[in-house]
Amino acid sequence: MALVPALAALLLFLSLQPACLAAGSGDIINKTTVALLAVSKDEATQQYVSFLWQRTPLVPVKVVLDLAGASLWVDCDSGYTSSTYRGVPCGSKPCRLARTAACATTCSAPPSPSCLNDTCGGFPSNTVTRVSTSGNILTDALALPTTFRPAPGPLALAPAFLFTCGSTSLTDGLATGAAGMASLSRARFALPTQLATAFRFSRNKFALCLPPGNNAAGVVLFGDAPYVFQPGVDVSASLTYTPLLVNPVSTAGVSKKGDKSDEYFVGVTAIKVNGRAVPLNATLLTIDRKTGVGGAKLSTVAPYTVLETSIHAAVTAAFAAETASSAKVPRAPAVAPFALCYDGSKVGSTRVGPAVPTIELVMGSDAASWVVFGANSMVSTAGGALCLGVVDGGKAPRTSVVIGGHMMEDNLLEFDLDKSRLGFSSSLLFRQTNCNNYHLG
Ligand SMILES: *[C@@H]1O[C@H](CO)[C@@H](O)[C@H](O)[C@H]1NC(C)=O
Ligand SMILES: *[C@@H]1O[C@H](CO)[C@@H](O)[C@H](O)[C@H]1NC(C)=O
Ligand SMILES: *[C@@H]1O[C@H](CO)[C@@H](O)[C@H](O)[C@H]1NC(C)=O
Repeated sequence: MALVPALAALLLFLSLQPACLAAGSGDIINKTTVALLAVSKDEATQQYVSFLWQRTPLVPVKVVLDLAGASLWVDCDSGYTSSTYRGVPCGSKPCRLARTAACATTCSAPPSPSCLNDTCGGFPSNTVTRVSTSGNILTDALALPTTFRPAPGPLALAPAFLFTCGSTSLTDGLATGAAGMASLSRARFALPTQLATAFRFSRNKFALCLPPGNNAAGVVLFGDAPYVFQPGVDVSASLTYTPLLVNPVSTAGVSKKGDKSDEYFVGVTAIKVNGRAVPLNATLLTIDRKTGVGGAKLSTVAPYTVLETSIHAAVTAAFAAETASSAKVPRAPAVAPFALCYDGSKVGSTRVGPAVPTIELVMGSDAASWVVFGANSMVSTAGGALCLGVVDGGKAPRTSVVIGGHMMEDNLLEFDLDKSRLGFSSSLLFRQTNCNNYHLG
């Protein structure tokens, strides 16, 4: 193994990190058909976090994953050291393509990532706290692992990966140690499209498998990876597909008139509990083409699924009625932010979590239903209650149904940007595997 000198420093650094961090054998490759992020759940914030490698010499950077956002943003004000960062010039093509671009023409302080002349500006956004600032748009080296679990493996390097500079205070509210957020959105400079371009992947798609916490790992797979989970469970042939919808009105913190949303919307047409349709106001489930209000989207920064008030009330009532007639489980006092709780010790358990009624998100037709079992619908509280993990999003939210992280855990979700469709597996637990059982390399 030939080691370039710069890598020796990286290896020394990595050897001081916890074992889970030590991805990368020191081999840097420029060509790959797959790049990935290992994902863990930060218990304190319930955010999904990952490490990517950035700068020269490469250092691991902890980031919070976000299905929204316009690009990767990192704190450029605390210890950003690199010999390869460059400002994206005002008026350049990438500057024009980064739709919210402004332009910083002069900075009189000594040059640094956040002080450059003639540099395109963006609006890094902390989508957890909903704080947006402005910051320089730069490029620098970015490297991602190419193996999962038979670590350490080679890192694939993109020499000039575009990102936006945030400030130290913009990281407030993120998991401890996180220096920014990695956008997985459909935006031109979010990770999926930029990685597909940098490594010339045959298709622009990525798969997301979120871990439920408890030190389990999950993964984001960019490019062409097999979806085979130990012990030999291949879910690629059994995904259910539904179109990904584009909300014509931006849902971002900062946007211009006419900007589309970069988030992933899906066409939920009905919600069923134990196979029975819940009476809902269908208007709320459709995206208003003029205002962008309504519809359903996926969000990794919402820990639990958020439902507009009337939908929340209807789903909760249907779930309570089904549970009373089928399972006869004693209720427990509600534990905020949840409205419907049970005595956890009286609920049976199954391979797919607590034995409770199923919730189905019907995507157009019954054949395209995302079936949610107890592991993804119920939340255990510290006091021993087991609560329906949906929260009331108020009477006039921008989006009526926000499918949150807990509902996506241990499910494989394929976001295919070329075909504009979402593939979903439903619970991997049903097939006696989980995200932590993924291996590659
Ligand atoms: C990878 O790309 C970098 C930057 O362009 C270059 O310096 C390096 O030689 C390349 N490495 C390989 C193995 O091709
Ligand atoms: C920007 O340009 C001005 C005028 O030429 C110069 O004084 C200043 O040092 C430059 N700033 C940076 C950060 O390069
Ligand atoms: C359904 O929701 C829409 C949008 O909020 C609202 O304008 C309409 O009045 C609602 N219809 C009923 C029957 O509540």
